[in-house]
Amino acid sequence: MRDATPQTIYLSDYKPFGFDVTSVELTFDLAPNTTRVRSKIAFVPREGTDGTFFLDGKGLKLISAAIDGVAISPDLTPEGLTCAVPDHPFLWEAEVEIDPENNTALDGLYMSNGMYCTQCEAQGFRKITYYPDRPDVMSVFTVKINGTHPVLLSNGNPVTSSQGYAEWHDPWPKPAYLFALVAGDLVAVPGAFTTKSGRDVALNIYVRPGDEGKCTFPMQAIKDSMKWDEEVYGREYDLDIFNVVAVDDFNMGAMENKGLNVFNSSAVLASQATSTDENFVRVEAIIAHEYFHNWTGNRITCRDWFQLCLKEGLTVFRDSQFTSDMRSAPVKRITDVIDLRGRQFAEDQGPLSHPVRPESFQEINNFYTATVYEKGAEVIGMLKCLVGDEAYARALDLYFDRHDGQACTIEDWLQVFEDATGRDLTQFKRWYSQAGTPRLTVKDAWYAGTYILTFTQNLKPSATTPDPKPQVIPIVTGLLAPSGEEIVPSQVLELTEASQSFTFEGLSERPIPSVLRGFSAPVVLESELAQNHTAFLLAHDTDPFNRWESGRSLAKASLLDMIRTGAHPDERYLDGLLAVISDASLDPTYRALMLGLPSQSDLATALHDAGDIPDPGAIWAATEAMRRAQAQHFKGILPGLFADHQVTEPYVPNADQSGRRSLANAALSLLSRLEGPERAQIQFDQADNMTQQLAALSILLRENAGDNALKSFEEQWKDDRLVMDKWFGLQVMQAAPERAAATAAALTEHPDFNWKNPNRFRSVFGTLAGHHAGFHAAGGAGYRLLADWLLKLDPVNPQTTARMSVAFQTWRRYSAERRDIVTAELDRMLATPDLSRNTTEMLTRIRGKE
Ligand code: TRP
Ligand code: ZN
Repeated sequence: MRDATPQTIYLSDYKPFGFDVTSVELTFDLAPNTTRVRSKIAFVPREGTDGTFFLDGKGLKLISAAIDGVAISPDLTPEGLTCAVPDHPFLWEAEVEIDPENNTALDGLYMSNGMYCTQCEAQGFRKITYYPDRPDVMSVFTVKINGTHPVLLSNGNPVTSSQGYAEWHDPWPKPAYLFALVAGDLVAVPGAFTTKSGRDVALNIYVRPGDEGKCTFPMQAIKDSMKWDEEVYGREYDLDIFNVVAVDDFNMGAMENKGLNVFNSSAVLASQATSTDENFVRVEAIIAHEYFHNWTGNRITCRDWFQLCLKEGLTVFRDSQFTSDMRSAPVKRITDVIDLRGRQFAEDQGPLSHPVRPESFQEINNFYTATVYEKGAEVIGMLKCLVGDEAYARALDLYFDRHDGQACTIEDWLQVFEDATGRDLTQFKRWYSQAGTPRLTVKDAWYAGTYILTFTQNLKPSATTPDPKPQVIPIVTGLLAPSGEEIVPSQVLELTEASQSFTFEGLSERPIPSVLRGFSAPVVLESELAQNHTAFLLAHDTDPFNRWESGRSLAKASLLDMIRTGAHPDERYLDGLLAVISDASLDPTYRALMLGLPSQSDLATALHDAGDIPDPGAIWAATEAMRRAQAQHFKGILPGLFADHQVTEPYVPNADQSGRRSLANAALSLLSRLEGPERAQIQFDQADNMTQQLAALSILLRENAGDNALKSFEEQWKDDRLVMDKWFGLQVMQAAPERAAATAAALTEHPDFNWKNPNRFRSVFGTLAGHHAGFHAAGGAGYRLLADWLLKLDPVNPQTTARMSVAFQTWRRYSAERRDIVTAELDRMLATPDLSRNTTEMLTRIRGKE
């Protein structure tokens, strides 16, 4: 039902709940269409409460309710219930009936392949029973499950279990969004970990029979995460058991429910034959992320959903530190920045822009965004950069000491840094309240031994930030001599004013600056420094991030020239790149990353920023021309790069081997542009791992020589859903722009296009939305196809529909013809009766006002 007047919730309206919940006991009688949930909840009125008693509840059939054993009839609304309650502690009892089998939204208690599963963040618990479903109400839960499945799981420690029954007790008070229940015909892959204080923890990964062989790697990742959090943050696990469950139907990556993390199977299962090296890295990072939430999220949670970045920004920051330690720190930083620019900058520059801590929302599920997560993590990285590693560690210790067991705010978080360091963070706090990506310009001057760098910051006013003020921007900077030697090592320049100069004395010659090393702040840097500095830094910078960034800037500048003026690819860039990729002393992964080009959507942003109207077809053509130029220019070394980086030892998904595979595959891709598809066909036929099989298949498809390989791949993998997701996605990804929408449309006719499964839906439509020239192809077929399918999905799964509607967020950049088609599609969708609150909010924001 479309809410007639969608309610906007404001941070400034926060009020504590009037009651404490001292214990919760839930009993589930599981049945696909008639699950009964009985609750016994002990409430204690808080000092000063006005006595108003409201419990959230959605889609529940109330069977009975009682207070202190006396039956009552509460007033019901579609959002919950109210009733009169005593002014002393009382026991609430209720029984409700729900229908998990018909819950296709994958929120609350639902079924996936015959197994029961819950997802309660952010507001799914209210679809299970009546409860104060808000994160600042924390309680101890006991859960009793009656069900026919052999595996019956919930949070905390097991109390008893017998055929058809299990009881769990979680001693740690938690908000309802961390509740979980799983019941299924699952097998446990066991493991064990002993914490540093000697607690033995039983580990289990629960999977569908047949998937046991994909658990070795994730099990190791759990142990590595547990160890890392002890060593780096001093945080130990706090229960006797840690369970992880893989589920096929899931709206996001994974969920940190206390002691019972639930994962999208794509985010936990991994094997040599079925997963790429990139998949392994992602699985390891998500396992770490969910595990780290045990302290940053669960033991210390959020007061309200506006504080989401308190747990998500910090936990993303922690998981990226973990990946940096486990693998290569520069590679992790570069891939994070690519992702940040691709998703967060795009969001911040469009109609969905919002602060890291938003101040209002209609549907909280629409705010699990790149801004809250990734920019939220960047803000913590800046804080650490400003206060230093040692002070950061002290502040974190204080945070855990002071706030364990509490539901906190960003103010609490910043206060521990102020108390631990004595620093005033008033200005720094603007990173949490101002939306948008600051632009930083830099210029330099040189007077007889004195070198001056002048920075200017500028933030465009936006709807949520009409009057932007200067932010604190840590700019890590080093200086190089013309010989290439580093004469001033990295230091943090703190930009606090709108414009500010920094002086370096006593230099014997004019240096070449390397600014914003390690991408020390999430800003767009516009350099007015001499262009040939960039080529110099590509050859000499000691900071691996900035060396990569220099290559990227040259590539971007050259591509923009090619698009605007039909210029030839920049020889300086190609020469500089040749030197880097030929340098055997450099990490192969890093060299493969150097070969990358800015995404077509990033190029469109750059053109738009410069006042041009991006033409997706022209951007695509320039990118292809640059690829051909790379192939030509590197012709002499490509066969060697390919041959020398073959891995002959048994497959291991570690940084060393995956680096060699990625460089060999990058070489193969370029080489195939010169030679045709033969080598790729050989690799496809001989591959014993998904990394090489999939890389070869993409090249074959790109070279229009993939028909047979596509068939044999499907034959080989038709029973493996996760691999078939790749098969669906790759065809869209490798389609020529004018064929992309038709390819996606044809794939929806495939018998295995199970569109209610979010992974499968995303494999086709997420890939289409990411195919810049394909999605935005003239004529609007991509727009119409996506709109049709979003309308079809919305009544079934509003969360995933709303997330996928983000594909339209950049529409204002493009030509009038395209804008007209998109606005017609947005209006058509918005005019559809009963559109969900989730999708309505997103489309309304994206559509904007004229
Ligand atoms: N808290 C989860 C994480 O960051 C993500 C999450 C939020 C989620 N809402 C969800 C996952 C809904 C699945 C479904 O890891
Ligand atoms: Zn998270």
